[in-house]
Amino acid sequence: MRTKVVIIGGGPSGLLLGQHLNRAGIENIILERKTKPYVLNRIRAGVLEIGTVNQLRELGLGARMDKEGYMHDGTVISYNNEQTRIDFAKHTNTTVMIYGQTEITYDLYAGREADGAQVIYQVADVTIEDALTDAPYVEFTQAGQRARIDCEYIAGCDGFHGASRQAIPREARREYEKVYPFGWLGILSETKPVHEELIYSNSDAGFALCSMRNENLSRYYIQCDAQDDPQAWSDRAFWDELRNRIPEEFADTIETGSVIEKSIAPLRSFVCEPMQWGRLFLCGDAAHIVPPTGAKGLNTAASDVFYLADALKQFYQHKDPQGINSYSARALSRIWKAERFSWWMTNLLHHFPNQSGFDHKMQMAEVSFLNSSDEAQAVLAQNYVGLPY
Ligand code: APR
Ligand code: PHB
Repeated sequence: MRTKVVIIGGGPSGLLLGQHLNRAGIENIILERKTKPYVLNRIRAGVLEIGTVNQLRELGLGARMDKEGYMHDGTVISYNNEQTRIDFAKHTNTTVMIYGQTEITYDLYAGREADGAQVIYQVADVTIEDALTDAPYVEFTQAGQRARIDCEYIAGCDGFHGASRQAIPREARREYEKVYPFGWLGILSETKPVHEELIYSNSDAGFALCSMRNENLSRYYIQCDAQDDPQAWSDRAFWDELRNRIPEEFADTIETGSVIEKSIAPLRSFVCEPMQWGRLFLCGDAAHIVPPTGAKGLNTAASDVFYLADALKQFYQHKDPQGINSYSARALSRIWKAERFSWWMTNLLHHFPNQSGFDHKMQMAEVSFLNSSDEAQAVLAQNYVGLPY
């Protein structure tokens, strides 16, 4: 087989990149390790920056999002009972969109299928060969058969545990990592969301987040021990702990009910530099991870894809290699700022084991400063809606 761009990974990064390339007439093949239903069943965050929203609209994939998603022009940050509303509209003239990643993935697959573009599912042992030459190729096993695709470029969109990053020799990359000493226990619940906006809540008992998918589907999280067994948390214990961590007005009114999913996610910050090695480019979770506080995971993937699609279009349409040569620097410049914001939000809002009395006072002073300073709120708003591309 032969194509222009092999995309390894059919998650949001790979699918979004594929869609940009299809629109520009640049032939590509996606290789995905799992089946489509498996990919579509993964539950992830649900806040889209305006840059992500605009990409989906420009690719002709925004219709369902615009119909079923919710525009939010603010969010609540609280500490015990003290609440600060961050007004995105006032500070940035823009909003974010609440629309689950599962739905986006569904729309992206529908778009790809409508274009008749190829996805090869259930591939194993993907290897990347000759990425430093101008004739790279990818090999993989499917249904017991080894196959090869010759190509011009390779996009590594295969997530944190994928093969692409590992294909860059150890001495050619540097990795930066911070693992946080807690996890998030998340539930999906068939209940009306407690508030029309998201509530990020710190409290003496730890962090909680009230989010949503739609009018009858809420998404709630509480900080927990990363080693906890989610099934050992009864629904009752979850609701009690959530109520304990959010401002009283919400604890008193929250609707509790049937829990349809329960899982624990670890919290990690991670960046691999550079994001390019010869003709191999990394996008999304393959190159970086953020803790979910601030909802930047999907949005950072989307900005990488924007830069890479732009670079490939410049190359194929105008023979201009400028974007390709500067991809890593351009993507990383924005990534590090999103890393900083997610790290800052995580530090601001969580209870850290072994936190000293001084550190605790610093956290409270920072929340109090945020509450009293319009400028501090503007900085949060600017980062939350997403820095410009
Ligand atoms: N070969 C082929 N496919 C692979 C391989 C491999 N060796 N390893 C992983 N994959 C597939 C996974 O099955 C998955 O479908 O690559 C895809 C990677 O998807 P994500 O992990 O979702 O990463 P990405 O597309 O970069 O999305 C980034 O979405 O999933 C969230 O937390 C993530 O919010 C972040 C954003
Ligand atoms: C979610 O709705 O799943 C969500 C929202 C905001 C976050 C993280 C997750 O910061």
